Amino acid sequence: MNILSIETSADETGVTIVEALGDFPTATYNVLGNAVRTQIEMHREYGGIFPAMAKREHALALVPLLEAAVAEHGYKKESISDIEPELEEKIRTILEREPSLADNLLTFHKEHGPLPIELVAVTSGPGLEPALWVGVNFARALSLLWNVPMVPVNHMEGHILASIFDVEEDDELTRIEFPALSLLISGGHTELVRMDDWAQYEKIGQTRDDAVGEAFDKVARMMGLPYPGGPEIGARAKRARLKNLPQFTELPLPMLHSGDLDMSFSGLKTAVRYAIEGKELTEEQKEALSRDFEDVVTEILLKKTSAAIEDCGAHTLIVGGGVSASPHLRHEFNKYFLEHYPDISVYFPVPGLSTDNSLMIALAGHARLSEALAPRATDLIRADGNRSLSNE
Ligand code: KG4
Ligand code: ZN
Repeated sequence: MNILSIETSADETGVTIVEALGDFPTATYNVLGNAVRTQIEMHREYGGIFPAMAKREHALALVPLLEAAVAEHGYKKESISDIEPELEEKIRTILEREPSLADNLLTFHKEHGPLPIELVAVTSGPGLEPALWVGVNFARALSLLWNVPMVPVNHMEGHILASIFDVEEDDELTRIEFPALSLLISGGHTELVRMDDWAQYEKIGQTRDDAVGEAFDKVARMMGLPYPGGPEIGARAKRARLKNLPQFTELPLPMLHSGDLDMSFSGLKTAVRYAIEGKELTEEQKEALSRDFEDVVTEILLKKTSAAIEDCGAHTLIVGGGVSASPHLRHEFNKYFLEHYPDISVYFPVPGLSTDNSLMIALAGHARLSEALAPRATDLIRADGNRSLSNE
């Protein structure tokens, strides 16, 4: 079956067309078209995502990205389509807050007709609610226009599946052994999730305040580095290690011995603030501080993850979300698990699938095929900024 997936939960707009051959979880996936647009440059001056701008940019990007995905797919339609006035009216009502998105979509539809798609998958949460609504309503409109079912996807489930998607080898999901543990580390989330089977999630640990990615972004901002902070800090930390720079400051390891699987990162951020207060940092001091910070974050994540592995007797560790793009984190996790838990398989996403993308939403949509709604029932679908894996 062909799946069209849409991602608009944060600052990446993504549209992907994927062919799924077979049933989940043993299907082979062929990416037929994939188009993504990042808003990072626009949010830079705010040091983080500015929600109203994110929403507007998603609305502007969706139809051009759909065009690009279709062009890559090579789909050509034979004749021009007419739209029933009643259907056009419904589409305009669904997209009433985004009138130009409605215009663009209707023009697209008149030119292309219904695409050869059997399922529309969209992120409905968690994320920035105004941004999520744009994607959800766009997906509802497509579902009605093409008369195909639609499935609302949990963004975090997408991250988990992206981490075990073997796009470089066989385009399949890796056959993992349960119970599995997922460490999800992104701009909005830091959680340890136990999985006893596909689609069975139990959150067993989480941050009590900032997410790891958020801590990277905030600490970077304090040092005058651009958003997103993760790659900026990572590059400087690497230079500090190569130069063997001395420690800049001793940072705390909050909640390391709390006896549970929860974490905290806001104290770390405050410690960085005190350490640099009133100082004009040299580039080498920034490098050293980046390394100190990255080391402490890695240590906290490693300790809590290994405690969680013991707690649930997991055979598999899946690390996902934007922060899993960190080469240092990946290296340290692989080294630590090889040494201490050689029987546990550790998975990180292939490059490009760590940060937000819509391919992962197609994978999660396929996993949740049985939950798809008929086009006329899709007005029940809501964006939910706080959607949680625990009650899926
Ligand atoms: O999953 P994601 O793309 O979006 C959310 O769902 O939040 O994660 C974005 C986060 C940002 O905080 C960014 O700083 C962080 O992932 N990030 C990284 C790296 N690349 C992105 N953190 C550390 N090292 C990286 N290389
Ligand atoms: Zn994400």
